[in-house]
Amino acid sequence: MLASAPYLLAVLGIAFAAPQSAPKIKERVHAPRDWINVGAAPTNHVVPLRIALPQSNFQELERHLYEISDPDHARYGDHLTKEEVEELVAPHPDSVHAVNEWLAGHGIPEGDCVRSPAKDWITVHVPVAKAEAMLDTKFHVWKHAKDEDSVVRTTSYSLPEHMHAHIELIQPTTLFNRITGHRATFRFSGAQEEAPAATSGTITANGQEVDASCNTTITVSCLKQLYNAVDYVPAATKKNSIALTGYLNQSANFADLQQFYADQVPAAVNSTFNVTFINGGVNNQTLSAAGAEADLDVQFALGIAFPTPGTFYTTGGSPPFIPDIDTPDDDNEPYTAWLDFVLAQKTLPQTISTSYGDDEQTVPESFAKRVCAGFAQLGARGVSLLFSSGDGGVGDGDPDPETQTCQTNDGRNVTKFIPGFPASCPFVTAVGGTIHIPEVAVDFSGGGFSNYFARPLYQEFAVTEFLTKQLPKGTYEGLFNPAGRAIPDVSGQADNFRIFFRGRAGLIGGTSASSPSFAGFVSLLNDARLSHGLPPLGFLNPLLYTRGVSAFNDITSGNAPGCGTPGFNATVGWDPITGLGTPDFGKLKDIVL
Ligand SMILES: *[C@@H]1O[C@H](CO)[C@@H](O)[C@H](O)[C@H]1NC(C)=O
Ligand SMILES: *[C@@H]1O[C@H](CO)[C@@H](O)[C@H](O)[C@H]1NC(C)=O
Ligand SMILES: *[C@@H]1O[C@H](CO)[C@@H](O)[C@H](O)[C@H]1NC(C)=O
Ligand SMILES: *[C@@H]1O[C@H](CO)[C@@H](O)[C@H](O)[C@H]1NC(C)=O
Ligand SMILES: *[C@@H]1O[C@H](CO)[C@@H](O)[C@H](O)[C@H]1NC(C)=O
Ligand SMILES: *[C@@H]1O[C@H](CO)[C@@H](O)[C@H](O)[C@H]1NC(C)=O
Ligand SMILES: *[C@@H]1O[C@H](CO)[C@@H](O)[C@H](O)[C@H]1NC(C)=O
Repeated sequence: MLASAPYLLAVLGIAFAAPQSAPKIKERVHAPRDWINVGAAPTNHVVPLRIALPQSNFQELERHLYEISDPDHARYGDHLTKEEVEELVAPHPDSVHAVNEWLAGHGIPEGDCVRSPAKDWITVHVPVAKAEAMLDTKFHVWKHAKDEDSVVRTTSYSLPEHMHAHIELIQPTTLFNRITGHRATFRFSGAQEEAPAATSGTITANGQEVDASCNTTITVSCLKQLYNAVDYVPAATKKNSIALTGYLNQSANFADLQQFYADQVPAAVNSTFNVTFINGGVNNQTLSAAGAEADLDVQFALGIAFPTPGTFYTTGGSPPFIPDIDTPDDDNEPYTAWLDFVLAQKTLPQTISTSYGDDEQTVPESFAKRVCAGFAQLGARGVSLLFSSGDGGVGDGDPDPETQTCQTNDGRNVTKFIPGFPASCPFVTAVGGTIHIPEVAVDFSGGGFSNYFARPLYQEFAVTEFLTKQLPKGTYEGLFNPAGRAIPDVSGQADNFRIFFRGRAGLIGGTSASSPSFAGFVSLLNDARLSHGLPPLGFLNPLLYTRGVSAFNDITSGNAPGCGTPGFNATVGWDPITGLGTPDFGKLKDIVL
């Protein structure tokens, strides 16, 4: 009797802390090409596990989002507050309880748990050995073949069967994606240091008179001429603001911005932007530390939207790191670090542009969906999100055709076009690229069809028209998912942008250029709405694909090769290389007022 008493207590203790069920695989992936397993992870290496609890009412959030983004709905513009959004994404109390018990059963006290405002994410820092026990897996150090970046990851993890309903995903586990700047096509040219050639004459394009020099050098003035916004004067600068996101240690340089303003937007000289630091992000003002992507984004978005106040979000958290010492792994997926931060803010900029992305297939589907749900929350709160569509046409964005792979990552190595994420998230506006005047599709404009996200209703008509009337029957069959969310939504000039970088002028290009400049015009539209006492535009796509269609310049020639094919063609109507086309600000303004 005496001997059995403590035994009984112990059994009860375990049973109380965590009712057990057998571990069952929650997620299994194939490590993407180029990641090499170089051995077991050090057991004391600290992993910041982010646990996603199911957002029990996300469908309801989505319904609200579509109603308030539909210009024909009575609730158009009736955006939700931070608290309303949080209530809709809050996990069910049963899930909160079950996860608490599971964590307690692994000896993790409440005090070690960091919870998001909606309580739908829990972050705990645990050593590899503990993470392996919790997830019934083994972590390894993986090195990237191309640049030696290292990460601590696993290709599968398990949870007790009864926990599957209460945990949507846990990362970083199977996440091997590498956020990259859409910069592959940046062609910095020192030959363009002098001011753009004196304007000699004008060209008529999109029904506008445009300086002839704009055919070879794009400036803020060129874009305002081409997109019909020359005379617009922002008036809601006390309420309106625009933001750019920076990742990968990119610094936006104040001195470069001043030179740019002196060159292109003289009235803006001496004005600047705010920098918001997230998760150890940097903004080093040493001229030689300026980032081309950050300089481009800030100069064109703020140059177009001036005097609208601007913010540069600089988010840290990316490889490389040294996984052999017991410092915490800091390669948290940076979009989630950014989302955590912005979703926790009471007030948000009305327009935000991001020029970064990944091959969709390198982001586990569960994770892509959860990040996309975060973008939906921002849309519901009235934020317009623009993302560059990528620089690889239908391909994987690798500018080198020799190493460009268009093969699936599912172990079968089937040849497929490679769409980009987050552009493929249906709750953001994906921006492709054009070049020259008259405008034609630029040959690198990223486009195609998602393999994760179904085609949203708002683009059903436009995309079906393309698939049935423009794309010759049977073209590229099997290479893309015709039922998927199609990108891009819109486009804009994307090459020969004149910026100042590290003290020198030069030309640069990529959908990295079209997204922030398109965002500049969206910010002006928000200005028009706010100055008329109307709410901001929020999630744009339901508007763009209905009333907006007639306010775009349809781009009907050019193609963007990739995966050893000529890719899709720009055609009459929507197409998967220029979307609905490039904006006519004047017409859009009339539509949104
Ligand atoms: C602009 O440049 C392109 C490419 O060189 C050329 O095809 C086009 O004719 C030029 N446009 C005008 C109006 O000269
Ligand atoms: C910018 O600031 C400098 C120094 O204070 C001043 O001399 C200059 O006039 C200002 N320029 C503009 C356009 O405000
Ligand atoms: C920067 O932030 C401050 C404080 O929040 C605000 O007053 C100011 O208007 C902001 N400036 C810009 C350029 O966004
Ligand atoms: C800023 O960048 C410069 C040039 O790369 C570097 O020497 C300096 O250490 C950096 N400063 C900080 C605080 O990182
Ligand atoms: C970040 O940039 C700074 C220059 O600003 C450089 O000194 C540092 O090595 C970079 N860090 C990483 C991780 O790339
Ligand atoms: C797929 O490609 C990878 C990387 O090139 C290779 O290791 C693997 O053996 C291939 N699998 C098949 C089924 O061909
Ligand atoms: C693109 O247009 C060319 C010329 O009209 C045509 O031959 C080709 O089939 C088209 N390709 C696609 C994918 O639509």
